[in-house]
Amino acid sequence: MGIQCKPGLLRSALLVAAFCLCLLPARSASTDTPEPIKYIGPGSCAATSCHGSVKPVAGSRILQNEYSTWILQDKHSRAYGALTGEVGERMGRILKLEGKAEESPKCLACHALYTTAEQRGRPFELADGVSCENCHGPASGWLGPHTTKDWPHERSVKELGMYDTRDVLRRTDRCLECHLGTKDKFVDHEMIAAGHPDLYFELDSFSAVMPRHWKVPRESAPGKPVEDAAWAGIRDWSTGQAVQLRAEMDRLIWRARGERYDKKDVWPEYSELSCFACHHSLGPAKDSWRQEHGYEGRRPGDPAWNSSRYAVFRLLAKQIDSANGQELDKHLLTVSSEMSKLNPDRNVVATAAAAAAPLAQRIAERLATMQYDQAIALRMMQRITDDAENIAIADERAAEQAAMAIDSLYIAYAKDTKPANDAEMRAAINQLFQQLENPSAYNADQFATALRRIRPMLH
Ligand code: HEC
Ligand code: HEC
Ligand code: HEC
Ligand code: HEC
Repeated sequence: MGIQCKPGLLRSALLVAAFCLCLLPARSASTDTPEPIKYIGPGSCAATSCHGSVKPVAGSRILQNEYSTWILQDKHSRAYGALTGEVGERMGRILKLEGKAEESPKCLACHALYTTAEQRGRPFELADGVSCENCHGPASGWLGPHTTKDWPHERSVKELGMYDTRDVLRRTDRCLECHLGTKDKFVDHEMIAAGHPDLYFELDSFSAVMPRHWKVPRESAPGKPVEDAAWAGIRDWSTGQAVQLRAEMDRLIWRARGERYDKKDVWPEYSELSCFACHHSLGPAKDSWRQEHGYEGRRPGDPAWNSSRYAVFRLLAKQIDSANGQELDKHLLTVSSEMSKLNPDRNVVATAAAAAAPLAQRIAERLATMQYDQAIALRMMQRITDDAENIAIADERAAEQAAMAIDSLYIAYAKDTKPANDAEMRAAINQLFQQLENPSAYNADQFATALRRIRPMLH
């Protein structure tokens, strides 16, 4: 059966369908022109028998408590509140927004289900924040059908406007629309200087923190092997890395070409650069690890490109697809050295990024479908710890990606058989995160030491 009902409340899928259908906007009598697909707000999914159960429903294909998880635990349900808070309001004043932050399309684009009046099938509140349809697509088309017995997910996706979040590539793209930005909605250094947090992302860690409101592993279709939960985490990490690099290349392209929706031309855009090149604390020259290492590949004093979306991923790319990995390296070297100049040539950056993007996407497709096992997790952790110096010196943000990667990989690695040195490993991973607690005081040598310490624990 499709979605199961709470036992004792509703007993058949048909009844669920009827129940949920009554929440649908009234359809016009004419069937000649199909109704345009519209947004209907999270309230439409909240019924106890649909997605608003308090606890996961036993025996159901899906958890059915998705709404409760979202409203109680998921920060997305409070995303609008960030705009009305002290920092949000002050940002509005600093940026001289017309009206308050919570009225500004510049902010609502990522902090709410912000649509045109025509796209709304029924009234709902912007104050609901980032809700179901932000990720799953407008629901008026599939709300009714998707509750009927054996309704295929593919039809909702192909015919009725549902976004295919099951596809890990598309899922990551969806997250990154807000967690990296597009030319139609973005966070730039001007917004960051006004108070916005810097954007960074890693699919597996961020999905865990969200937290996930879906089953891992997904119950497989008849005849297909059950996806292994542990390896699903690695797949999310690895594929997420590749998609993230592709999206970063896309962002560099439109920024280099000055294609912002508001037509302002800012180049180079500081939020593409290493934040802590400019924002670190100064001390005596003899104590400076930056001076100690010199400034390879750039003129001393020029801020470096933020290579965090590549510094760790490149190890993975070379491991699983050495031909494309090497090709990618070539273009990324151009991007990196050009972006690490005071006045980067826009054409050089855009051309190299445009060559890199499809390579990253190709590797992502491969990572999404390949088989993972404990040996791959181990090898990746070894590669990352072997490269400790390069990662550490790249940027504090690169170190952060390495810490999240080791964390994700180790969780998967240790899922079934706990290694004898488990406690020691976990303590060492905590140390990595401790190194990142005060980013302006970040020390590459100390981070590299903490990362290298993990290497002999991996066997
Ligand atoms: C491109 C999408 C995007 C846009 C546009 C955007 N934000 Fe955000 N905002 C985010 C994301 C994503 C986070 C969470 C970042 C994180 O924690 O990694 C966030 C976090 C915040 C936070 C911190 C919330 C907290 O809980 O600490 C504030 C405040 C905020 N945004 C205000 C604004 C304001 C004001 C605007 C408009 C001027 C705006 N945002 C525009 C995506 C966006
Ligand atoms: C920030 C993005 C996001 C938001 C907000 C969100 N979801 Fe999801 N949801 C996902 C992702 C990603 C998945 C996992 C991939 C999948 O199975 O589609 C998922 C999975 C699901 C599933 C399981 C689908 C399956 O076939 O296993 C259900 C049901 C669901 N979400 C319902 C909801 C409801 C109801 C809401 C609002 C209360 C909601 N989601 C809000 C991203 C989101
Ligand atoms: C429509 C825009 C949007 C989309 C799509 C989106 N997010 Fe977010 N996300 C936000 C905003 C805005 C915040 C900040 C909320 C707050 O703190 O007030 C946020 C916060 C988060 C946080 C909390 C971060 C923290 O610092 O605690 C996590 C985790 C997260 N998102 C994961 C995801 C994942 C995973 C996906 C994709 C499945 C996703 N998001 C898709 C806008 C979005
Ligand atoms: C090329 C140098 C440069 C880079 C790179 C850079 N910034 Fe800035 N940033 C500045 C300058 C200059 C100011 C203005 C400082 C002032 O007027 O006090 C500033 C202001 C800020 C402020 C507000 C001032 C404060 O102390 O609260 C924040 C926060 C900030 N930047 C964060 C970031 C983050 C995060 C990044 C990376 C995504 C970044 N910056 C990248 C130069 C830079």
